[in-house]
Amino acid sequence: MGWWLKWFVIGSLVAWFGYYRHQISQLSRTHTAGLSRIATSLANNTDSYQFFNRSEQMNNSYFECENIVYAHGICGNLQVPPIQRPCTPPLHIHLEQTEFFTLIQGHLAYQLGDKVYSCDIHTCPRPLIVPPLLSHTFWMHDNKEDLIVRVHAEPADKYNGLSQRFFENFAGINRDQHISIWQIFVLFENAQTYPASLPLPFMKIIVKLGALIGQLLGYKIEYEEYTTVEDNFN
Ligand SMILES: *[C@@H]1O[C@H](CO)[C@@H](O)[C@H](O)[C@H]1NC(C)=O
Ligand SMILES: *[C@@H]1O[C@H](CO)[C@@H](O)[C@H](O)[C@H]1NC(C)=O
Ligand SMILES: *[C@@H]1O[C@H](CO)[C@@H](O)[C@H](O)[C@H]1NC(C)=O
Repeated sequence: MGWWLKWFVIGSLVAWFGYYRHQISQLSRTHTAGLSRIATSLANNTDSYQFFNRSEQMNNSYFECENIVYAHGICGNLQVPPIQRPCTPPLHIHLEQTEFFTLIQGHLAYQLGDKVYSCDIHTCPRPLIVPPLLSHTFWMHDNKEDLIVRVHAEPADKYNGLSQRFFENFAGINRDQHISIWQIFVLFENAQTYPASLPLPFMKIIVKLGALIGQLLGYKIEYEEYTTVEDNFN
C-alpha cells in the first residue's frame, strides 16, 4: 500500500469516528434525572424502576430499587418466549456483587445456572440470593398483576458495578430508544456485568473490546440528563 493510501484510510476512519461521535452527542435525551420512577418506554408499557433511600444506600455501600414489570404490555405477553421480552435481561453474571431479589407482588420465574424456577409471594425465597459469577435472569410468570421485584446489590458504589447510575442510564437510554450494542457494551463493562452465553474469559474480552469501541464512538457510562447527582438524592 502506498503511504498516501494508508493516510487516506486512517484519515477517513478518524473522520468517520468524529462524525459518528457528533451524531451521538446530538441525540435528544429526556431529562429523567431526579425522578423516583423511570419507565423504560415512552408508551409506559414495558417496565419501570423505582428508586428510594438513595443517600442511605450510598452511605452504606449497597444499591436497591424496585423493578416493576407491567402485566399489560409486551413483557406480560405470555405468548412471547420470556427471553425475547424486552424486560428480561439476558442470562448474565456479576463479577463481584451479590444480588438479592425479593418478590413484592406477582408471580416470578427465574433462571439460576441452567435451572428454571417459578414462585409466588408465599413460595419465593426471601430473599433469593445470587452470588457473584452465578448466571441468572428473571421474568413475569403469569400476568394477573404487575410483577414487582426488589433488587438489592452489594457491595455497591457510584463508580462501577450495578448502581443507581447504571439503572437510571439503562432505563433512560431504552426510554429514548437510543439503545445500540456499543452502548450496551459500555454500560455492561462499567457495571461489571457479563452475558453468560459464552465462557466468561471470552465474554470479558468481547465486552471489554466492545466497550472500548463504544467509547470511541461516543457512547458514555452516564448522561447528565439521566443521572441524579448526589445533592439531589432523596
Ligand atoms: C405507567 O403504567 C403503570 C402500570 O400500568 C401505572 O401504574 C403508572 O401510573 C403509569 N405511569 C404513567 C406516567 O403513565
Ligand atoms: C427507606 O429507609 C427507611 C429507614 O431505614 C425504611 O424504614 C424504609 O422502609 C425504606 N424505604 C424503602 C422503600 O425501602
Ligand atoms: C449520608 O452521609 C451524608 C454525609 O455524611 C449525610 O449528610 C447524610 O445525612 C447521610 N444520609 C443518611 C440517610 O444517612
